[in-house]
Amino acid sequence: MHNVESMVRQSGPVDLETPYDTKTVAGKTVLLTGGASGFGAGFARRWAALGANLMIGDISDTDGEALVAELRQSTGSPHHHYFHCDVTDWSSQVKFFKEAAERSPHGGIDVVVANAGVKDTDNHFDNPTRDLSQLDCRPPNLTCIDVNITGVAYTTHLALFWLPRSSGKDKQIMLLGSVASLVPLPPQIQYTMSKHAVLGLFRTLRGLAWQQNIRVNLLCPYFIKTPIIPPMARILLAGGGMGVTESVVEAATRFLSDESIIGRALVVGPRVRIKEDAKNVEDEFEIVGVVDEDAASSEANGPSGCRGTAAKDIWEIYAHDYEALTENLDLEKALNNSG
Ligand SMILES: NC(=O)c1ccc[n+]([C@@H]2O[C@H](COP(=O)([O-])OP(=O)(O)OC[C@H]3O[C@@H](n4cnc5c(N)ncnc54)[C@H](O)[C@@H]3O)[C@@H](O)[C@H]2O)c1
Repeated sequence: MHNVESMVRQSGPVDLETPYDTKTVAGKTVLLTGGASGFGAGFARRWAALGANLMIGDISDTDGEALVAELRQSTGSPHHHYFHCDVTDWSSQVKFFKEAAERSPHGGIDVVVANAGVKDTDNHFDNPTRDLSQLDCRPPNLTCIDVNITGVAYTTHLALFWLPRSSGKDKQIMLLGSVASLVPLPPQIQYTMSKHAVLGLFRTLRGLAWQQNIRVNLLCPYFIKTPIIPPMARILLAGGGMGVTESVVEAATRFLSDESIIGRALVVGPRVRIKEDAKNVEDEFEIVGVVDEDAASSEANGPSGCRGTAAKDIWEIYAHDYEALTENLDLEKALNNSG
């Protein structure tokens, strides 16, 4: 009989204070969708510098090719490649994975990051009258669903085929959720739907992928300065602070490096503190202010003047499904009997 948490090999809470050893990154072949910009480009630069081989797929060919040229130059390694890949197109992704495995120095793919994503576009989803009154009424533009759900489903499906075929000892699927996986962003209906779907994928997949020795982890960034954030959102967030790509890269690099982290989720945002005198759960999670990195005293005293915890930009969240199931169950037997 086993506790379910240990049966699905889910690791304990991530100790974000402990340094991790990046030596494990060298030699890993990482396939990255949407790698030409934003987080993807940040991951590629950091991981290539640590010795990983980067296989980048995107529709933004000029940026993707320029990035790979930069990586080859900065690392002196020829093992970084760019591929045109539209994640919404099944055959495009099939070709991307196959060619990436062929170009990988050890013939396999060790880590897949399902990163490509878009925000809602041409958003008349919540305003059907505009179109339905026309004779040539058209369906809503579901590009966001296509990229963020169908694309991620294709990527994950292919990852589950290719990762077990790698000779590397550590295999991982890293998913890009969002705070929109956890809370609604009302003007972004499809985006919120899609990132809730990614959360559902994470919660189910982490309970199954252990059978193939694949680690599944999730990143849920808050608003972070990348091209996906439009000027209007930046205006709405004025004074509230946005996070920076470096924090997301840091959280992802911990997932990549620390091979003991399995089935965990991290939220990444601007650096904030928790009020020192927090007494209940709501207070405990109260954000007292965005820390001004330039002001030394702000580490101890936020804009509100309250004292609190040390400033943090990475927080663990939402990994309790199996922890909450405290009964001892024979999961192996249950799976064998489920047909
Ligand atoms: N920046 C944020 O605030 C934020 C917050 C939470 C989650 N995210 C998520 O992080 C991921 C990366 O976003 P980012 O902020 O780096 O944005 P970004 O716009 O800088 O990068 C997204 C990349 O995806 C590529 N892409 C778009 N459609 C594609 C398609 N059909 N096929 C292949 N590639 C495609 C783009 O060309 C671009 O290079 C996305 O999944 C996004 O939803 C971002």
